[in-house]
Order: sequence, then C-alpha cells, then structure tokens
Amino acid sequence: MDQLEPLVSNSSLVFPLMITLIITLILIIFFTTIFPYLTSCFHNFFSSSVFCSCEICQAYLTSSWSKDFNNLCDWYAHLLKKSPTKTIHIHVLRNIITANCENVEYILKTKFENYPKGKPFSTILGDFLGRGIFNVDGDLWKFQKKMANLELNKHSIRSFAFEVVNNEIQHRLIPLLQNQNQNLNQVVFDLQDVFKRFSFDSICRFSFGLDPMCLETSLPMSDFALSFDLASKLSAERAMVVSPLIWKIKRFFNMGSEKELKKSISIINMLAKVVINQKRKLGFSDHKDLLSRFMSTTIHDDMFLRDIVISFLLAGRDTVASSLTSFFWLLAKNPEVEKEILLEAERVIGPHDDENNNFGVTNFEQLRKLHYLQAAAHESMRLYPPIQFDSKFCLDDDVLPDGTKVKSGTRVTYHPYAMGRLEELWGPDCLVFKPQRWLKDGVFQPSNQFKYPIFQAGLRVCIGKEMALMELKSVAISLLRKFHIELEDSRMFHGNPRFSPGLTATFAFGLPVFVRPRGTK
Ligand code: HEM
Repeated sequence: MDQLEPLVSNSSLVFPLMITLIITLILIIFFTTIFPYLTSCFHNFFSSSVFCSCEICQAYLTSSWSKDFNNLCDWYAHLLKKSPTKTIHIHVLRNIITANCENVEYILKTKFENYPKGKPFSTILGDFLGRGIFNVDGDLWKFQKKMANLELNKHSIRSFAFEVVNNEIQHRLIPLLQNQNQNLNQVVFDLQDVFKRFSFDSICRFSFGLDPMCLETSLPMSDFALSFDLASKLSAERAMVVSPLIWKIKRFFNMGSEKELKKSISIINMLAKVVINQKRKLGFSDHKDLLSRFMSTTIHDDMFLRDIVISFLLAGRDTVASSLTSFFWLLAKNPEVEKEILLEAERVIGPHDDENNNFGVTNFEQLRKLHYLQAAAHESMRLYPPIQFDSKFCLDDDVLPDGTKVKSGTRVTYHPYAMGRLEELWGPDCLVFKPQRWLKDGVFQPSNQFKYPIFQAGLRVCIGKEMALMELKSVAISLLRKFHIELEDSRMFHGNPRFSPGLTATFAFGLPVFVRPRGTK
C-alpha cells in the first residue's frame, strides 16, 4: 500500500491538469475561430438579407440556373446583359457584380482606396502566398508594386524573359510535339495540359532561376511542381466551402485537405529556402532572374523574398496557359484567322524554313510588327478572359456611378467575361471572333482599359501583361508555322466550353487535339 501511494497522488494531479488543458484548448478554439465567426454571422444576418427570396438569389441557391447554362459565368453574363445598369446584386452572397465600365473605373481607380482586396481574400490565400504582392493591400502592396515595376521595365529583364520562353519553345515544346508524332500516326495531345507545363517551366525559370522541367515528359513531375499545383488547388477550394469555419477548424486540428495543404506549403518553403541559400552562397549579382534581382535590393528577409516570388508564379502560370488554350481552340474553329496569322508571319519573318530553323520569332522587333496576331490575341481574351471575374471588398458605405448603393463589407466584383459579351460595348457582332475589330489600316488599336479589364486596370493593373503577350505570340507563331492542329472531338466546335471552378478559366475536359507537321496529311 505504501508503494502505491505516490502513484495515486500522481494520478490525482494528472487528472485535473488534463481537464484544465482541455478547457483551455476549447476556449482557445472558441475565441480564435468560433467566436469571430459567430460575430460575423450575426453581423451578416442583420446587415443583409441572408434568406433573400428574389428570383436571382433563389436561382443561385437552388442551382436552377444550370438547367439553361453550362457555366455560372454564362448565367451572370446573361443577367448582366439584361440589367439596365449592367449591375446585379446576389444578396445571399453579399456580392454586387458589375459589367458597367464607369463602375469599373470607379472601383479600380477613382475610389481605389475604398475597394481593397480585403481580409476574406487574403486569409484564404495567406498560408500559401504570405505577404506576396498578390495577397496584400496598403503599404506592403505599394512597396512591392514600385519595386516590381522598376525591375520589370528594364530592358535586360525583358530580354531574359524572351530568352527563357523561346528556349522552352525550341528545346522542349516543339520536340515534344514532333517526337511523339514520329513514333505514332495519330497522337492526341491535351494542349491545355501541355500549356500548363510550358507556362510553369517558363515562369519558374524567369522568377526563381529554377527549372522544374515539367515539359520533359520522360521525367517525373518535380516535387516543387506537384506541391505548387496542390497548394494552389487546395487554397482555391477554401473559397468554395459554405463557411470559412470549416477549413479553419480543419487547419487547427491539421486534418484532411488542410493537412495536405500544410505539407505541400512546407515542401515549397523548403525548396525556396534551398534556392535562396544557394544564391547567397554563389552570389546573385550577375543573375538575371527576378529573385536574384530582388535579393540585390534592400530586401534581406528570406521569407519575404519567398512570398514575393511565389506570388509571381501564381500570377503568371495558369493565366498564360489559359490564354493559350482558348486561343488555339478559337483558331481551330476559325481557319480563316489562322491563315491570316500565317500570311502576316511570312511577310514579317520570311518563309517558313525548317532547314534553317526559321519558323519562330527571333526578336522583339518582329513581334511588334505582328499587328494581326496582336489583334487576334486580344480578341481571344475578350471572349475568353483567363480571369473571368475579380472581386474587391468595400470599406465604407458608397454609391457607384450607376446609382447602386454599396454597404461596407460588401463584395464588389467586376466581370470581364460578361463585359466582352455586351453589345453596348462591342457592337451587335460581339459574340463573333473577329480580330479585325482591333485594327485600323492594319495597325493594332488598344482599347480603353476599363472597357477591357482583362489584365485588371487602374492602380493594380497586371505587371506581367507584356510578358504574357510575348509568350502567347511566340508560342502561336512557332506552333502554327510548324504544325497543323485539329480538334479531336467535333463537339468542341459548337457552343462555349465547360469551365472547371477555380481562380483561372480552365476547360473542364482539357483541349484534346491532333497535331500533324505541316505539309503532311
Ligand atoms: C494572359 C496572362 C495574364 C492575365 C490575363 C493576367 C491578369 C491579371 C489580373 C486580372 C490581375 C489582377 C488580379 C487581382 O488583383 O486580383 C493580375 C495581377 C498581377 N499579375 Fe497578371 N496576368 C497575366 C500574366 C501575368 C504574368 C506572366 C505575370 C508575371 C510575370 C503576372 C504578374 C502579375 C502580378 C505580380 C500581379 C499583381 C499586381 C498587383 O497586385 O498590383 N501576370 N494579372
């Protein structure tokens, strides 16, 4: 009995200790996740009509819109077209959606300070993107924008981007399409997947000086590429759950998709750390990539450097792949446009000559002279913007130029996909793919940025626009002059594609095509 006594007294201490611990844990969860959530629910409940019975909200809640439309963006485009102000309000989402150019200018420029990205967006992407430019407002954003603009406007970085992209085209993209064709007669490629791999290789080499070799299909996809893919997908899925409380609790207990997200982010962080350390050791002053350039400035915090570059990867990867996918899909359906592009290329670059390797663009000057191609690229993104909509959050109660009242905390979304389909903006043939609408006497004419906010507009306009257009045009010329590309499924000739849900427009069933060298049947 004597020997048992210490045991008994120990367990009598352990029990209350455990109870105290559990209660503390419950209180922490309550005050960090449940309490703020309940507060915001009550706020939403009293400040907006959560149980709205209007026709639009009911169609949204019951998904009855999907009987008539393939995609949510098509339904929104239809509603916006019918609206006299070109603005609608989905009350149950507290989301005002607009296709009105004056409203777009107002939120992106005139009242920019009142329409930041906001906390809901930055919380969702915060673990993945940290304090990177894509995910912050205020001074942190201003600092990065200034620095990035300074670097990206330099001639040397433009040449570096051109070199990276054209190297990837000549040494990976073309051999991939060519070699497969030599072995088999009719190979089906999912061009969307090929373009995703291409744009990831390009943006990583440009931003990090790191080559993930995703287009080398003989190699397994790198850990970095797989983790980046997974982290983007899981972060976007956070936005789709009915309440943020769900993912926050899963994150707290490190469960399910949140556990996977944490793991993929830690792989990305590990790799970023290795790259940064290596650059420090070997010296970075003569390196041309974006990371080395930022390292030569005043930024010495490794985590901040990582955040800055990861934002660039996210911004410049799927957007470029998406623009290439819809461009090649539209060309396959509009052979007369493809013919015009080829004729113009022959005039500017000279005849296609495999022996002398004369099929791609060799310099910026040539790219600048391809006005019809520039028009076709803009026309393709008018109808199929890589980012179909983009949201801000209103800080203080406001009234938009069309008279729409906006309460503080409301999400305000501008919708380039719907804008590209408005007769008022583009005329009665707005649904026709017609590059000529961008030309005057054969010279490309840019549009007003608030009528065509494909790259956003105003102060937060995309920094990578020129690089994106250079990539699209370089790939287009190289592939079109070398290959004949045909849709595998004739059903893809009709109607709009079905899109997968996500931040960037993605064809739900990919873009399966036959690729044949030109001049063969
Ligand atoms: C066709 C391709 C592209 C399209 C359609 C596009 C479109 C956009 C849009 C709509 C935004 C605003 C997003 C937001 O604030 O929520 C944006 C921002 C941004 N883009 Fe692009 N982008 C493209 C390619 C690129 C490329 C290749 C890069 C990198 C070199 C890039 C870098 C950025 C950055 C850093 C921002 C953040 C700018 C800021 O917040 O001030 N983009 N882009």
